[in-house]
Amino acid sequence: MDPIAHDTIVLDVVDSTNTWAKKNLASLSQDKPTCIIARSQTKGRGRYGQTWVSPKDLNLYFTLAEKVTAPLALPHYAEVATLAIQTTLWDWQLPSSIKWPNDVLVDNKKIAGVIVEEASLDNASWAILGIGLNVNMGRDEFREIERPATSMLLALGTHFPIEAVRNSLKEKLLELLAWAKNNPDQCHERWARACSWILGKEISIHTGPYEKISGIALEITAEGHLLVKTASGKIVTVASGHLQN
Ligand code: BTN
Repeated sequence: MDPIAHDTIVLDVVDSTNTWAKKNLASLSQDKPTCIIARSQTKGRGRYGQTWVSPKDLNLYFTLAEKVTAPLALPHYAEVATLAIQTTLWDWQLPSSIKWPNDVLVDNKKIAGVIVEEASLDNASWAILGIGLNVNMGRDEFREIERPATSMLLALGTHFPIEAVRNSLKEKLLELLAWAKNNPDQCHERWARACSWILGKEISIHTGPYEKISGIALEITAEGHLLVKTASGKIVTVASGHLQN
């Protein structure tokens, strides 16, 4: 099969591949996705303003930027990304699970995260999809991270060829994105099924610095929201947040 048309830009050091993409929209291809990869980031960003630890050449720091012309809603980019990460890890013999909405876990610890941002230029909308995947980060680097996290190295005890992992992820991401554009409902169903292990469990979701919703996870809706039944019996719809189970 022909590779799906795209551009690739590899940067040595950058503040954040997502920030770089937003600043450089005008120079990016208007009709195919651009994959921006950095060897290290000085201001890697996670969701909710968190820092994404980005030491040189140890992990993947990857952004896909594309002008949004097809009606693929932005949350679908996150679904595609989590599925692409899961498939990539599987190809490297590492089973993982998707934690609603945007995290990928191995041994119940975070191995990858996804952030989707929107940007605009000349009235056109752009999807900026950022992926961080921990590949060869060892125990020392994890001291900087508060939440339980892991890497492919820690999970399987062996170093991985970072460029080959990056190419697998890129290929899977482009393939799934092309498929999802024609099959958005099937993509959503596949993602929702992958996240469904959480249903029926007692959970807490931090939806802001001082906001937390606790209860039983009931359902993932067609919009990707999580329905939670609280202790008072009320059903709350949660669009996004940090889930603890
Ligand atoms: C999260 O789980 O909070 C999302 C983490 C996303 C990190 C990636 S690394 C590449 C891209 N550039 C960034 O600054 N962030 C994303």
